[in-house]
Amino acid sequence: MRNVTIDNVTDVVIESLGRHQEIPARQREIMESLIRHLHGFCKDVRLTHGEFLQACDYLGRAGAICSDKRQEFILLGDILGVEVLVDMLTNPIQGEETISTVLGPFFRENAPVMPKGATTVRKNFEGQETVFVEGYVRDVEGAPIAGAIIDIWEDAPNGLYENHDHDQPDYNLRGRFETDANGHYALRAIRPVPYPIPSDETAGELIRYMGHHSMRPGHLHMMVTRDGYRSLISQIYDSSSPHLDDDSVFAVKEALIGEFRKAPEGADTDLTLRFDFILPRAEAKRMAAE
Ligand code: BEZ
Ligand code: FE
Repeated sequence: MRNVTIDNVTDVVIESLGRHQEIPARQREIMESLIRHLHGFCKDVRLTHGEFLQACDYLGRAGAICSDKRQEFILLGDILGVEVLVDMLTNPIQGEETISTVLGPFFRENAPVMPKGATTVRKNFEGQETVFVEGYVRDVEGAPIAGAIIDIWEDAPNGLYENHDHDQPDYNLRGRFETDANGHYALRAIRPVPYPIPSDETAGELIRYMGHHSMRPGHLHMMVTRDGYRSLISQIYDSSSPHLDDDSVFAVKEALIGEFRKAPEGADTDLTLRFDFILPRAEAKRMAAE
């Protein structure tokens, strides 16, 4: 094709897919839709060449700051609501199961395995509020799931996750806990505080370009896994936290809001939080996808 025009360029590019080399059907589907949407976007906003070059420079700078400590593209996806959308598409709600939400960029593998009831706090902060967190993990019929692993992580009262703060001990506020024969888990932690997502560098540029802010409401991250069940990546939100209605990454769900209550007299924490999880069998996901 020698006469590419505004009207035919989209079809011309799509027709090139697989022309010189066979490509899998899924790859074709992804590329065809990507090309249609990208071209549609450029036409919609009448993107100028100067803006195109600015975007290329921006993406180059975003890539250059990625490291094993910072995945800038996940962050950009979060700010644009893409991670929460992809999570909802990947984990459609099928019934009574606990709803998932975004993983975010602060998860670390291999958190310490701790006995039931232990604390994840390895450094005390002035003004922190300790919380006893407990609940049950059950299947959709209400039967207890023993041996489920609850992997939990949260920010410190200074708003920083341990791996982004040299002054916190390794794996502070992270731990893995197992449910007992009744499906019960328990641990001690602190009340999570609202915090800004990393907003220096290109993530901050995007937030400012959108005229948005960077704050997230206080939340505990939880990953719940057990062989034979669908793994759950989710967060529990503090009902009294600001930003439940204007989360910078759009990840709050009503069903994930928990009550941090004043602990009873004589308790060894300031607060208590009860939160139960329901996991569907792993096959349910496969069947739904079919
Ligand atoms: C988080 O909850 O840790 C998070 C999620 C998305 C972007 C940044 C942080
Ligand atoms: Fe978080």
